[in-house]
Amino acid sequence: MFGNLKALPADPILGLLAKYREDNNPNKIDLGVGVYKNEAGHTAILDCVKKAEKFRLETEDTKVYIGPTGSPLFNEEMTKLIFSDEHQVITHNRVRTVSTPGGTGALRVAAEFIGSCKQGATIWVSNPTWANHTGLFQAAGLTVKTYPYYDYENKSLDFDGMLAALKKVAADDVVLLHACCHNPSGMDLTSEQWQQVAEVAKSVGFLPLIDMAYQGFGQGLDEDAYGLRLMADSVKEMIVCSSCSKNFGLYRERIGACSIIGESSTGVDIAHSVLLSDIRCIYSMPPAHGAAIVETILSSDELRNQWYDELKEMRDRINGNRKLLVEKLIEQGVTRDFSFITRQSGMFSFLGITPEQVQRLQDEFSIYMVGSSRMSIAGIAQSNVDYLAESIAKVL
Ligand code: LMR
Repeated sequence: MFGNLKALPADPILGLLAKYREDNNPNKIDLGVGVYKNEAGHTAILDCVKKAEKFRLETEDTKVYIGPTGSPLFNEEMTKLIFSDEHQVITHNRVRTVSTPGGTGALRVAAEFIGSCKQGATIWVSNPTWANHTGLFQAAGLTVKTYPYYDYENKSLDFDGMLAALKKVAADDVVLLHACCHNPSGMDLTSEQWQQVAEVAKSVGFLPLIDMAYQGFGQGLDEDAYGLRLMADSVKEMIVCSSCSKNFGLYRERIGACSIIGESSTGVDIAHSVLLSDIRCIYSMPPAHGAAIVETILSSDELRNQWYDELKEMRDRINGNRKLLVEKLIEQGVTRDFSFITRQSGMFSFLGITPEQVQRLQDEFSIYMVGSSRMSIAGIAQSNVDYLAESIAKVL
């Protein structure tokens, strides 16, 4: 049986991690996979996470099965974090949230659920989008199509193209939108643009699926959820997939959430029962440790405030790195305008160089970024930015 298989290339993002780890150059820089790094280049465990883990270690008294929904307290706290306490989907009892194995698990569960609603449904994703979206949705039997999004030439949003395409989507199609910190372009919608997209969603009637993997990494926890909350105010049904990998730094714990919004509380209960059946058939029930950490932090005033501070520190450092790189490129005498990097948001931006130049950065300077020239801005530090800018200047 295995003899029929052909070897596949390594994942374009995760494959870089292995190459970077094997590289012995002391000056190497990892701008590949989207993980936060501090000034020392380390992905440290947040202090609030350490405290929550200590508390759980002392108080946890069973490892018995938790069920396909995961932890009820985690689900409740995440729903409030995503939508805000007073949002009408909460007060009208129209939302159900389940814990999932990371944001990818949430997306896969959502995809299976969409397939249960309509076999082979079409999902529209932005061009470009996160490298794993297409494969993940196709693996669940969905048909993937793209709508215009990033204008590579002008390093901006092709909003007219996006809106025109969304107006032509069928009413029983799904449209994937990034809540904030668009991966890979860093190009987010403004509040006004979200309002227009929400109006189109309402009039066309498509199902919005919102991927929020970076809440708090763009402008702030509430600011980053603005579009999603507005959309939830405008449409009858919606799905949100969120991740605690980045904002809680819980990458390997695999914890995220999938929230479904229905037209009524009875309607969403039916949808929830289908979602649980889909989960049971994929992984039965989610891992518990990450959820336990997050619910401990979110339900304690002290730990929650500490988390706000630690999240702000990460956000500010990333935003600072954006300015720093642009300044250093100017210092290196680079005349091409890279100021767009400071107008983008979150973990990523495209540098806008060719695949050959990306390869040269890797081969000659041990600087790793995805072939599309997507950079993980968190990998920049005071200690490596001069070398980075100098190397970019050389390949330009
Ligand atoms: C990324 O885009 O680098 C992250 O979301 C990590 C991943 O799983 O691809």
